[in-house]
Amino acid sequence: MANNLLAGKRGIIFGALDSNSIAWKVALKAHEQGAKFTLTNAPVALRMGEINKLAEHCGTIVIPADATSIEDLEKLVAQSVEQLGGKLDFVLHSIGMSPNVRKGKQYTDINYEWFNKTLDISAISLHKILQTCMKLDAISEWGSVVALTYIAAQKAFPGYGDMADAKATLESIVRSFGYYYGNSKKVRINSISQSPTMTTAGSGIKGFDAFLSFAEKMSPLGNASADACADYTITLFSDLTRYVTMQNLYHDGGFSNMGVSEIMMNTFEVSGDEGQG
Ligand SMILES: NC(=O)c1ccc[n+]([C@@H]2O[C@H](COP(=O)([O-])OP(=O)(O)OC[C@H]3O[C@@H](n4cnc5c(N)ncnc54)[C@H](O)[C@@H]3O)[C@@H](O)[C@H]2O)c1
Repeated sequence: MANNLLAGKRGIIFGALDSNSIAWKVALKAHEQGAKFTLTNAPVALRMGEINKLAEHCGTIVIPADATSIEDLEKLVAQSVEQLGGKLDFVLHSIGMSPNVRKGKQYTDINYEWFNKTLDISAISLHKILQTCMKLDAISEWGSVVALTYIAAQKAFPGYGDMADAKATLESIVRSFGYYYGNSKKVRINSISQSPTMTTAGSGIKGFDAFLSFAEKMSPLGNASADACADYTITLFSDLTRYVTMQNLYHDGGFSNMGVSEIMMNTFEVSGDEGQG
């Protein structure tokens, strides 16, 4: 479904690791909608080599950058503007990693050095990207920045560990930076709170299968796929959503507004007449 929604737009897409990645799907759709962009990921992730296939398909280049390194980000942004022939119109932050979650540390027994890493990679990196872009004046007026998040920022989900704190920080940066960047340059910043999705980051969470099927049973529309998330992201990069900023937008089939669904109630139904009345 190519409508040229992003014709003439330039951007940077962070976080395409493999074909399951949400960022990978966004890149495919942005390409389909006429955008030009660079792809980037941490040098260690690039060693897998998968992203080169995506770059080839989209006719673009991959620029390595650790999203926690200001030096890497400055090079990435400057090189992207040069390569694409002008300022950026969109940036996708699709980055998340927690050493504590990955190594199976309980939330009540975390390693604080790793906690700092979780926050730096998964949340503060958004601030670093935005600050770098602002200093280099690299984003055009009405440009759009989207970060991906999860509802564990608002509600408790055992197993999500310190990523919940990272997501809460990420969403706060969306609001705070959204104010400053909107005020000075009309740049908008939003987060998309996505359903659980089977990706490398997602499946690192203990009991992820249960997360997935619980959310599926609770959501009237069912879980949103990575593909559908990419569609939603494209609308936020497009000019059709010019006045949306500083928002955390749920893309979760209705999950966030549910108390309980009938299918879940049926799971706990007590047989016979007992409990009625
Ligand atoms: N999968 C889910 O269930 C789900 C649900 C809601 C939100 N999200 C969010 O979506 C985003 C994308 O995750 P995904 O599910 O596509 O998984 P993914 O594993 O494909 O993507 C995560 C990306 O972060 C990158 N990354 C890690 N450390 C980095 C660093 N230092 N510098 C630059 N990049 C780095 C990884 O290389 C990878 O490409 C994340 O923010 C994640 O938290 C995922």
